[in-house]
Amino acid sequence: MPILFDDGKKLFTIHTANTTYQFMAGPYGFLLHLYYGKRIENQDMSYLIINRDRGFSGNPYDAGCDRTFSLDTLPLEYPAAGTGDFRTCAASVINPDGSLVLDPRYSGYTIHKGKYSLKGLPALYEEQEGEAETLAVTLLDSVCGLEIQLLYGVFAEKDIITRAVIFTNRGSNTIRLTKALSLNVDFLYGEFDFVHFHGRHNMERQFERIPLMQGTQSISSNRGTSSHQHNPGIILCGKNTGEDHGDCYGFNLVYSGNFSARAEVDQTGQTRVSMGMDYEGFCFSLGEGESFTSPEAVMCHSSRGFAALSHRFHRVYRHNLCRGRYQFGPRPVLVNNWEATYFNFDGQKLIQIAAKAAKLGIDMLVMDDGWFGGRNCDNSSLGDWFVNEKKLGMSLKTLAEEVNKRGLKFGLWLEPEMISEDSDLYRKNPRWVILPPDRRPVRSRNQLVLDMSQEQVRNYLFERICAILDSANIEYVKWDMNRSINGWYSPSLSAERQGELPHRYMLGLYELLEKLTKKYPHIMFEGCSGGGGRFDPGMLHYHPQIWCSDNTDAVARLKIQYGTSFFYPASTVGSHVSAVPNHQNGRTTPLKTRCITALPGSFGYELDITALDAEEVQTVSFWTAQYKKLQPLIYEGLYYRLLSPFEPHGISAWQFVSPDKSCTLLCTAASDVQANPQNLRIALKGLDANKTYFCNDRSYTGAALMHGGFVLPGFAGDYPAEMLYFES
Ligand code: DGJ
Repeated sequence: MPILFDDGKKLFTIHTANTTYQFMAGPYGFLLHLYYGKRIENQDMSYLIINRDRGFSGNPYDAGCDRTFSLDTLPLEYPAAGTGDFRTCAASVINPDGSLVLDPRYSGYTIHKGKYSLKGLPALYEEQEGEAETLAVTLLDSVCGLEIQLLYGVFAEKDIITRAVIFTNRGSNTIRLTKALSLNVDFLYGEFDFVHFHGRHNMERQFERIPLMQGTQSISSNRGTSSHQHNPGIILCGKNTGEDHGDCYGFNLVYSGNFSARAEVDQTGQTRVSMGMDYEGFCFSLGEGESFTSPEAVMCHSSRGFAALSHRFHRVYRHNLCRGRYQFGPRPVLVNNWEATYFNFDGQKLIQIAAKAAKLGIDMLVMDDGWFGGRNCDNSSLGDWFVNEKKLGMSLKTLAEEVNKRGLKFGLWLEPEMISEDSDLYRKNPRWVILPPDRRPVRSRNQLVLDMSQEQVRNYLFERICAILDSANIEYVKWDMNRSINGWYSPSLSAERQGELPHRYMLGLYELLEKLTKKYPHIMFEGCSGGGGRFDPGMLHYHPQIWCSDNTDAVARLKIQYGTSFFYPASTVGSHVSAVPNHQNGRTTPLKTRCITALPGSFGYELDITALDAEEVQTVSFWTAQYKKLQPLIYEGLYYRLLSPFEPHGISAWQFVSPDKSCTLLCTAASDVQANPQNLRIALKGLDANKTYFCNDRSYTGAALMHGGFVLPGFAGDYPAEMLYFES
């Protein structure tokens, strides 16, 4: 039984294979958090709580003259605003009388088999019946009548606990919810480092590790997407935690919109972690009987360092989050025409690319932006989802058939959430965009954003996209989204409900994606937002892979993919080989290096393959074949980060190990080569010590590879890379 309840003590204990999470309904019905970490058996952890009289930390009325009982210093399971806890709260309201106090107390619980689901929101699901259990703990503010249900989904064997919260107005007057976080964890002790993944367009998910300071460290997005700038995943770890040792806690939000994640060190040295939807401007009205459901947060603890933490996230995302025919693979190797042609193509050019691709072993051609409306540059036509047959010189059906005849699948780019002012759709429906009345829009890439909260907008998009997808043999869709959202206003919402729009946008988008992915199960959807601007678990529920970054430079990708790997499995990472000099930063790297650095993901090409010379043709054919052979190992194997691209030695190394440890793939790439370099040893990981592995006609025991390792040969030249495959 992963979820235990001690009725006498009102103590909730959640066990996973290697972790324990515990909290209790304490005095006066306040929920006190007690422990999260390595598994502990048969122990009430409340002995850790020390009550002290601390000045300026007040006491609830119920505590009478006990000045040691303060919500300002106690570890709380789900802190609410206005009750004398002055740290970051998880929920806040504006009451019907305008006051801001929310005082929820324990009122009951249920435990049931199976994993809860969340209406209209992506969430982890059970891979097999009976795999998960749900604990629902109910709190009630008896004055305003707000009920708060804390949900815990427990994937015991996978060491994963999910969190979500449902707020229901049991009173008769409208309550305005102004903060509704998904998760709060109060650590009673510990000095933590804070790991997060920041960035920008063309440079997403850059790893940063900083010590927590007294006060708050936070990351967030208010861009309407999870964003290039901050990924909705943070890790708290001990000072000495590394890849293979030490405690770490991962928190990741299953949501693709505005979010906030923070860690606050309080006056007593406790650390509070909170995560959920961003609350700046958020205001959701709940009338009598109405509910609001928060997105889901996923949490995991590892006492064996970052590698084990990543393995657990990778596993649960592949098995319990991604869905559909392409969830596990095999997936096609594709060639996308974006960097090959940009807007300058016609059907014949694409057919030429397909013909050449077939000879190289590539499986699919993707026609990117520019095939619809009057779109010949990025200033027009978004929303006019009608095929530009004049430009293509043929119908979509014919183009797909010609591509298919050459032995390739055919895929298509779409950017459904956007609209150009220069489009028939905008001329006809100017009120379909997100824009307050009487104000001028902020343009970004010269495009505006459709109001996905409006049903008629979603219906239009569904009808148009279905018409396109039904018109030809389309087996792949790249779902793009190319701007941040501001100036939130929807004509379909009343003035007091405008603060609901960012979330209603997401609900509308998820609804449309759900309908389309259900209707077209044979189509592989790839997410994209100017590369990896919406690379989050929410999107992975609909797209099993996401275009990792618009930056296709092999060296820059080392850092981007390194950061991405902490939460997201390689199978979710769209990674392509592109031309040199690279179109984003002008760097020239060898083709072999570009291929090796694109391998740890869902591999493809993004260059004009009709222009390759004879040697390049051989190289591309070779690496396409290599990738196809290795895809099962890359998708299903355990991923190890061996050398970080953020270290000064300038060498990156990573490794995949098959689940049965029978083979492993070691890749290294140099972003900085040095004359007379110092010896740099790489120790492999995760092998069977007693197995003998063969590589290039030599044999090595697993123990030798893991403990003796390799001393890297001195790399020379511009940006070299090597790959070694070992088989037992
Ligand atoms: C941004 C994407 O990330 C690119 O790959 C490409 O599809 C362009 N949009 C097309 O406009």
